[in-house]
Amino acid sequence: MHGFSSAPAWAQPRFPTNPFTLGVASGDPVPDGVVLWTRLAPEPLAPDGAGGMPPYRLPVSWQVASDPEFRDVVRAGASPATPELGHSVHVEVSGLRPGRDYWYRFRAGQEVSPVGRTRTAPAVGSTTPIAFALASCQAWAGGRFAAYRTMATEDLDLVVHVGDYTYEGRDDETLAQFRVNHAKYKTSPDLQAAHAAFPFVVTFDDHEIENNWAGLVSQPDNEASNEIGRFTQLRANAFQAYYEHLPLRRPQRPSGPDMLLHRRVDYGRLASFHVLDTRQYRSDQLTEAFPGGPQHPGVNDPSRTLMGDAQERWLFDGLDRSSATWNVVAQQTIMAQVDYDAGPGVSVNHDQWDGYAVSRNRFLAHVEQSRPSNPVVVSGDWHSAWVNDLRLDFARPETEVLATELVGTSISSGCGWAAAVKAARPNNPHVKYLNPDRRGYTRVRVTEQAMTADYRVVTDATDSTGPAVTDSSWVVQSGHAGAVPA
Ligand SMILES: [Fe+2]
Repeated sequence: MHGFSSAPAWAQPRFPTNPFTLGVASGDPVPDGVVLWTRLAPEPLAPDGAGGMPPYRLPVSWQVASDPEFRDVVRAGASPATPELGHSVHVEVSGLRPGRDYWYRFRAGQEVSPVGRTRTAPAVGSTTPIAFALASCQAWAGGRFAAYRTMATEDLDLVVHVGDYTYEGRDDETLAQFRVNHAKYKTSPDLQAAHAAFPFVVTFDDHEIENNWAGLVSQPDNEASNEIGRFTQLRANAFQAYYEHLPLRRPQRPSGPDMLLHRRVDYGRLASFHVLDTRQYRSDQLTEAFPGGPQHPGVNDPSRTLMGDAQERWLFDGLDRSSATWNVVAQQTIMAQVDYDAGPGVSVNHDQWDGYAVSRNRFLAHVEQSRPSNPVVVSGDWHSAWVNDLRLDFARPETEVLATELVGTSISSGCGWAAAVKAARPNNPHVKYLNPDRRGYTRVRVTEQAMTADYRVVTDATDSTGPAVTDSSWVVQSGHAGAVPA
């Protein structure tokens, strides 16, 4: 049960300082509601992971208003904050109107949170244009967070975050360690500003848990972690801390080492976001050669999977049933082939879809046969910006483009392999745009007729005051897979 707690009640909460140090957030909008988030943590970096909170449960009250001054409060209530969930609060608000801005805030004891703004999804059937930002890969060490500072000033309906929201500390293994790491990231005022400005739809990649984890298998170079149960427990701890720090709904609350993260978020009849989890159910990587290595014959083994059978069926069914003009597949790693071998051989990165070519072929063959409306894959992970044509046979550029791929650059994580991806470009004629040298995010405007992607870059990711500007703009016309310069 969501609010269950064995902790004693805290009758008269008093805090040494304002406990809303991690800000507020909202997420997963529907036409009549949204999930609101905060976490009480007067000492966010306390090493025991408790955020400076005593081991008591307490109610946190919340308000949703149609105006930023809270003159017109339209919904209000109270939700429990418990030590079992790190005193995080997840409120699923309903009864709101579609496509509207709302403002929200929390109160615990006498302390009041900052105000957040959110926006509900448009009504079912709506074709009103929307805009979203694609974000990923925000290493704390890379500078924090110029990209979010500019993003927070945009007019967006939502932010789609496709992973590496945090990077694990070298020895992170316990729940307390993962909590402290998340809290550290959340102390960034620029990240807090973006969360307070727009609802987020999030999915994790590898670094929220561990570099290149796959299913219940830790990295090969970290074999101690594969001792019976050890990585399973680490995964459970990382999942719980992830849930505790993000605006996720109740079905996404983890149960031990399992977490249901793939889900669908609809924006009227205009766009459907099919959000994937390509880590939890994947087969182990065939090799770890970096950035690429000779293609392993196992990439075509039909028993291998990137999504897992159940999620793959769910995705295909969802595409078949979708009535949206745009079907956005929001996921982690690059789907297009990236061949690093300038000669006749093929050299690829086996952590990406290239290491699971059989899964990519199943997806693109399904698109070819079932013809869902405007499939657009949005990706992250590789700390570099790309526009790619997706086709079944990348070696035959004359064949049909079946889907469009937009790969967003990192918010702040560095791209130490920029020279390798630039050198590989001539081997990959389906790559229309590549920029591994800048950090930022992608702003995507969606109408019935077209999807326009502006690749927004910051000049210096370590200077949080630097603005983001548009490096390049690409447009996909409805009915024509493949982006062209805007
Ligand atoms: Fe990353």
